[in-house]
Amino acid sequence: MKGLVYVSEATMKFDQTKLANLTLKASNKNKLLKITGYLYYEKNRFIQYIEGDDLSIDALFENIKKDQRHNVINVISQEINKRRFPAWQMNQLKKEDFVRTKMEHLITDLLLLKRNKTVDKENEWDRMAWEMIDRMAKLRTMVYKYPFA
Ligand SMILES: Cc1cc2nc3c(=O)[nH]c(=O)nc-3n(C[C@H](O)[C@H](O)[C@H](O)COP(=O)(O)O)c2cc1C
Repeated sequence: MKGLVYVSEATMKFDQTKLANLTLKASNKNKLLKITGYLYYEKNRFIQYIEGDDLSIDALFENIKKDQRHNVINVISQEINKRRFPAWQMNQLKKEDFVRTKMEHLITDLLLLKRNKTVDKENEWDRMAWEMIDRMAKLRTMVYKYPFA
């Protein structure tokens, strides 16, 4: 199996209706091909993550690349043996979702939950929080050392 993520620039304006239509069509087709992932759009840019069988992903991405509604800027892919989003045929993530899932908010929620409730697997929660802080530090220092936009 393969996971692939790309960034593209829209060649036309996408409003919520257009995005919802695109996502609905995509998810119907992805269901047949057993492809899962998500799509996010902001400020004229798409970021999409797709995962599935190598052949299905290659074929779909060829299709997506040819789509005149956007120009793919860059793409990365990797071999995977487990899906990250097994339940998402194609989930349109919205800006509001992302604001609520900022790394800092996730960590805050994690720590608040841990304080208010007795959680089993307490060590795992701590480990997850530290993992996020680690990744965030690496990513942010990299991105802001080499800003591209
Ligand atoms: C940003 C973007 C993301 C897309 N994602 C998918 C997708 O996940 N699955 C899909 O089937 N089509 C997706 N499409 C649409 C394809 O480019 C193409 O129009 C669609 O697969 C229909 O192909 P067909 O004419 O061969 O049926 C996407 C298009 C755009 C612009």
